[in-house]
Amino acid sequence: MAMPFSTLFLASGNPHKIEELTDLLAPFSLELRSTKDLSDPHEVEEDQPTLEGNALKKARFWFDATGIPALADDTGLEVHSLDGAPGVYSARYAGENVTYQDNVDKLLRELKGKTDRRARFRTVLALVTADGEYTWEGVCDGVITEYPAGGGGFGYDPVFRPDGYEETFAELSSAEKNRISHRGRALQAFAADLEQWSESHQPEKKEDQGTPGTSGTS
Ligand code: IMP
Repeated sequence: MAMPFSTLFLASGNPHKIEELTDLLAPFSLELRSTKDLSDPHEVEEDQPTLEGNALKKARFWFDATGIPALADDTGLEVHSLDGAPGVYSARYAGENVTYQDNVDKLLRELKGKTDRRARFRTVLALVTADGEYTWEGVCDGVITEYPAGGGGFGYDPVFRPDGYEETFAELSSAEKNRISHRGRALQAFAADLEQWSESHQPEKKEDQGTPGTSGTS
């Protein structure tokens, strides 16, 4: 698959996400770099009030620092009966320097006794290149379960059951999660645009007019 660029910088320090993004981008012949490859990976502070603002901030920083087209994402879990919380604050829902478990525990406490357990994950992907800035969104609707289940994934995966499934994200294979997840959907939208983009950047194909009378001369 031809791409408008051959190297992409994944602006994330989270090994789970790098693994997911690497899986999702495997069909494209892109050389992937990330903060994992740097001796002094700088943490970009996610202090913007929106997912889009944080994703763009990270992608801009890494494009400026490396000169390589940079892809960053920001994800939030938006819970209906909590007016969209934890949203952009999903990583620090239970406070600063907390574990995934602390956040899950707080979420289950906040939802105790609530019958409306609808929630969605939303990812904003931002790409910053020399040509400009682009964003894509991916959403996965589901519910927050009463109890955690499953040992896979990360973050809120053990308590998020996507619509149409009996299992939580943490019980699904990573391939299945990637196919339907917020990040997977955002990346699928990104990939579809990349394909179109690369086609429209192809040099115009010349008609092959052949050379009459030269075939079969062996
Ligand atoms: P981030 O800022 O995109 O890293 O996401 C913020 C927080 O959302 C993370 O710290 C996780 O707690 C949670 N999160 C992001 N993506 C996922 C996911 O795919 N499954 C479960 N939790 C996630």
